[in-house]
Amino acid sequence: MSQIIDYSEEVMEHFTNPRNVGEIENASGVGTVGNAKCGDIMRIYLDVDDNQIIRDCKFKTFGCGAAVATSSMATEMIKGKSIQEALKLTNKAVMEALGGLPPVKVHCSLLAEEAVHAALWDYAQKHNITIEGLKPPV
Ligand code: FES
Ligand code: FES
Repeated sequence: MSQIIDYSEEVMEHFTNPRNVGEIENASGVGTVGNAKCGDIMRIYLDVDDNQIIRDCKFKTFGCGAAVATSSMATEMIKGKSIQEALKLTNKAVMEALGGLPPVKVHCSLLAEEAVHAALWDYAQKHNITIEGLKPPV
């Protein structure tokens, strides 16, 4: 028997109408992460300007509705922010902005945080800079 999961209105809204879907050509940084728990994959593209501000941000997610909704919300939340601010984005903050996620879907929101970090790491590598507090992707 299938289980019906109760999603918030915000989650359903971002799932049906996700923001920032796609790719960025010649992106400043790209991060791809997979979820060991379910096998889903998320990729985030960053376009960072000379002042280290995220000018644009896109994502591709091969995963469930909660993963799509968290990617959509996470990209919205880091657009226009500095790389330092983007680093501070937590899955908890994304979940809160989405009005919460059911417990079985919390791992989906972790993908978004990890993908942002991986993209920041890639950006730092390509530009030969150190972002304080950023750990290499596992
Ligand atoms: Fe299928 Fe995550 S395992 S959506
Ligand atoms: Fe795995 Fe959502 S079920 S990302």
